[in-house]
Amino acid sequence: MNLNGFQFNKGELCCEDIAISSIVNKHKTPLYVYSSKNLISSYKKLKDAVSNLNIEILYALKSNSTIGIVTLLGEQGAGADIVSGGELKIAKASKIPTSKIVFSGVGKTEEEIRQAIDSKIKQINVESESELEKIISIANSLNTKVPVSLRINPDIEVNTHKKIATGSNLTKFGLPTDQAISLYQRIKLEKNIKPMGLAIHIGSQIFNNLEFKSAYESLLKVANNLREQGCDVPNLDLGGGVGVNYDNFEVDFTGFGRTIYEVFNKQGYSLSIEPGRSLVANSGILIAKTIYLKRNNKKNFIIIDAAMNDFIRPTLYEANHKIALVKNSTNTEEIFDIVGPICETGDYFSKDILLPTPKEDDLIVIFSAGAYGSVMSSNYNSRPPANEVMINNQKIQLLKKSQSIDDKIKSEASLLIC
Ligand code: LLP
Repeated sequence: MNLNGFQFNKGELCCEDIAISSIVNKHKTPLYVYSSKNLISSYKKLKDAVSNLNIEILYALKSNSTIGIVTLLGEQGAGADIVSGGELKIAKASKIPTSKIVFSGVGKTEEEIRQAIDSKIKQINVESESELEKIISIANSLNTKVPVSLRINPDIEVNTHKKIATGSNLTKFGLPTDQAISLYQRIKLEKNIKPMGLAIHIGSQIFNNLEFKSAYESLLKVANNLREQGCDVPNLDLGGGVGVNYDNFEVDFTGFGRTIYEVFNKQGYSLSIEPGRSLVANSGILIAKTIYLKRNNKKNFIIIDAAMNDFIRPTLYEANHKIALVKNSTNTEEIFDIVGPICETGDYFSKDILLPTPKEDDLIVIFSAGAYGSVMSSNYNSRPPANEVMINNQKIQLLKKSQSIDDKIKSEASLLIC
């Protein structure tokens, strides 16, 4: 297995040389375990891959907004791409300078826009004419200059899961290019809007760099067109989307960097990118314990103590994350479905995979769970979400202690009393 920060030592999975079983002795399952070493090296690899252009890396908090993770990336130099007032608070709590925060998303409320302006963030990426009207009216009422970028939708098909493809005009994202051009000409005339440039994000889990290339070429065309008309277009924000291969953990930062270089070298724009998954996916694993083995005449099931409320990607996007036993104690192998305790057939992590037969209480690992894992967890079936730890300099650091169901009962019961 070639995964920085995680390796099998004498048949047992370790995170940075600490045995997973010893981490679980202190913090019970289900448990997210992150490797700070993996996280830092992912950031460095991306930075190196884009070092021949002056690019600002704005980490997309939506992929993992645990404060310990955001803080570590901030310390490496990352800014933030946020999509809510909540993420703005988390970015600030993680000490990301507000001058390095970009606010994306199709449905920013007036309150969120005011919070962003108040915090003096780098820019708001606008996705519709109505949103622009709202920002203009807030900016005028405050008599403050608000930095704004327009997100274009290049109307291209992207070969990824349909729920995470955002580059076509059949989706709610961005502005069609002709609309973006006319709105940009308009903001030029607004005294309280500072035009910052254009943004794009065509989707997530993209492996074909030609798709990025075609989107970036559309973006460049619009930007050049606006410049020819005398508009100031300083920055192009290229979004996120770099794919993570969940079979072999590979991330093609080099190809992504080369693509950006090919399109934007010597074009005279400052650039930013909004990577999420590619930075954090491989830095986290989810550890669960085997509760039961169950067999019928058609299937063998391993029922574990993590469920779709902890990690929803397999059932929501048919994602295939690598799964293994933390420590292999038998020589027999069988075909299993790995399932959780939730009362839904969709509560599974993998189907028909070959694994050594575990015993009750044996630990199971789900790899590449660092992105869109804990952030998408819920209390479904009144299950408390998993705790989270990070291994940092050979120490186990508790990053998140999930709200217990007892606390949830207390907070809801206190409402009934009022
Ligand atoms: N920028 C914008 C405007 C975005 O909407 C996204 C992701 C990103 C950047 C970061 O994209 P990334 O580098 O992570 O691909 N829950 C889904 C993924 C949803 C992605 C949403 N937008 C999943 O688990 O696959």
